[in-house]
Amino acid sequence: MNVISTHIGQPVSRIDGVAKVTGQAKYAAEAHPPGMLYGVVVNSPIARGRIETIHDAEARQVPGVIEVMTHLNRPHAALFEKSYMDGLGVPGVPYRPLHDGEIHFNGQPVAVVLAETFEAAREAAMVVRVDYERWPHNADFEVALHQKYMPSKTRSNYVPPKPRGDAAAAYALSAVKIEGRYHLAPEHHNPMEMHATTAIVEDDGTFTVWDKTQGPQAVQAYLASALSLSKDQVRVRNPYVGGAFGSGLRAVYNVFLATLTAEMLKRAVRVTLTRSQMFTHAFRPEAVMDIALGASRDGTLQSMIVKGVTDTSRFEHNIENIVIWGLINYKCPNATADYKVAPRDTYTSSDMRAPGAATGVNLLEMAIDEMAYACSMDPLAFRLHNYSDIDAMHDMPLTSKALRDAMAQGAQHFGWHDRSMMPGSMRDGRELIGWGMATGIWDAMFSPTSARARLGQDGRLHIATAASDIGTGTYTILAQTAAEAFGMPLDRIDVELGDSTLPECPTEGGSWTAASAGAAVWLACLSLRRKLIDMLARSENAPPWVKQDTVTLEGGILHDMTENGPVSLSLPDALSLAGYDALEAEETAKPGLRGKISQMRKARFTHSAVFCEVRVDPELDTVRVTRLLNAVAAGRIMNPKTAASQIRGAMVMATGMALHEESLMDERVGRFMNHNFAEYHIPAHADIPDMDVLFVNEHDDEVSPLGVKGIGEIGMCGTAAAIANAIFHATGRRYRNLPIMPGA
Ligand code: MOS
Repeated sequence: MNVISTHIGQPVSRIDGVAKVTGQAKYAAEAHPPGMLYGVVVNSPIARGRIETIHDAEARQVPGVIEVMTHLNRPHAALFEKSYMDGLGVPGVPYRPLHDGEIHFNGQPVAVVLAETFEAAREAAMVVRVDYERWPHNADFEVALHQKYMPSKTRSNYVPPKPRGDAAAAYALSAVKIEGRYHLAPEHHNPMEMHATTAIVEDDGTFTVWDKTQGPQAVQAYLASALSLSKDQVRVRNPYVGGAFGSGLRAVYNVFLATLTAEMLKRAVRVTLTRSQMFTHAFRPEAVMDIALGASRDGTLQSMIVKGVTDTSRFEHNIENIVIWGLINYKCPNATADYKVAPRDTYTSSDMRAPGAATGVNLLEMAIDEMAYACSMDPLAFRLHNYSDIDAMHDMPLTSKALRDAMAQGAQHFGWHDRSMMPGSMRDGRELIGWGMATGIWDAMFSPTSARARLGQDGRLHIATAASDIGTGTYTILAQTAAEAFGMPLDRIDVELGDSTLPECPTEGGSWTAASAGAAVWLACLSLRRKLIDMLARSENAPPWVKQDTVTLEGGILHDMTENGPVSLSLPDALSLAGYDALEAEETAKPGLRGKISQMRKARFTHSAVFCEVRVDPELDTVRVTRLLNAVAAGRIMNPKTAASQIRGAMVMATGMALHEESLMDERVGRFMNHNFAEYHIPAHADIPDMDVLFVNEHDDEVSPLGVKGIGEIGMCGTAAAIANAIFHATGRRYRNLPIMPGA
């Protein structure tokens, strides 16, 4: 049979778009089972200490209040720390909600108030009083830096690799040097949808848990382990997720508390976090990078020395891969990297969109720009001069790297060659104009994933996998993949995601879902096609022509040309003739699928080149980003429309990183004090310029079975640096802190 390529690569609009804009798409806090109680969490206002007394009498007097659950009256939950480990595998001692009276961080849940209405629960939560014994804490990053360490137990790919050459000696001998400390403020994930759980107790005593998460099977495993249940007693559903950016990689305390209280009261419970409470469980760590670069006078990099520190909590070692990106991406004979974490008494920092690279690539690309200027070279020319065609850090070939094309095409579209070199030399009236650029790099990962394809009597193809679509377009690209693999019109495909009972799929993240779930759906559909053909070949009732190998399945119809003209057979008829109600196939995609991925020692990355124009008002010290262009090399693009949206969204977020987003710590109480949108600034419409996205042609059949690299995170990498570099070009001033606040 022939496979006609018609769907993958088309700019298809989201198949879930109508459900979303008409409110039919139900999110975690929208399930409304009968008898549901509302749970409101009370959080600790101190960073370290012990609960002495909980005064809940007044709260219990509030009409409608059913229970105030604390560590003193909660039902049994697992005792051991390891039972609270989640799929992310952050080393250390996981936080156990309401485990005991010890306070580890400001914002830690100390009670959950359950009431018949949300208003009653909230009112009662406000009058729960807790006496604490306060212990000393440190929430000051500068102080934490003095206690930095490398965790002994950690994911091996996060340990900086062996140095190459002698970076210190080469630096000393370099004719041109730059050196400095670069800093990124801590940021908080603020997806549109806040974390929420609706936990339902079914008649048979099992739990159905609607949770805002990036991994329903990871949350299922976590709940089963932490609540000492078997996995088949917990079903976790997340068919729609209103963004996450990594805040839903780990089980958030609301899911544990909702399920525990539902178990305690034998009633459905919904626990939603407020926007402020989004600042109590995860954040992109604060980071410093000490960067020293040495080059010869002709602009050839001779030495790169990168030392990075990010912060973590006192109880878990959250580590990020921030220091190695430039060492991978640039040809430089001498390079070394060092990395440590700095503990402070906060909740644990966490992965946030392009964890490690969003920090490390942007800070390094600011230093690269400084070095280009120190060598009196155009920043684009400097990068091309020091371009590496291999993973220079690990001395490994790459499956592909079309970054040269991205730089060339991006520069051409942007008009880079009209740029003047001298900072402050481009003006429009009183505004200074600056043009900056940077490059981006992110992993192109692939994780084993299973999917099921089922053809029903209704003639529809049903696709199922436990992937999460966090707003990225996963439903749509999987439908496109199925349409192409099976030969089915898009509108006859149903995609079911976000349910722990579906075929196994890793937690959504790392930009691996398109490559991984895409490959699984592809295989399942090919397998189902084969099954269908085999079934027809064996069937006595099927017409003889469908048994020929010239038969085509296209547009959801089997057809062929015979002596008597064209013939066709609908899929429901095919099933009926063979006596089947439905036909189903399940497959698992794993590395090594084509015998290539696991066998070839090649590194895999996505690349980008970002160009930016800013306008700076030198009297008001305001910065406007007026143009952003991102040229992305990400292998095969499944859907240029949803893919470009991913890049644009990341560029908005990176604009926040460059100019706005900053979590400000009040060290005295150990709390990020700007925990609201009045004071934690993210870009609004007026801050967002025209943004262009272009995808360069990059054929790569080694990176993943479908040649897909993923595009969820690459748009973060380099964009903030391009903005910073444009501000330098406009003003002649270097800023080494993100966010940049000129005049501040
Ligand atoms: Mo992303 S930080 O891998 O959800």
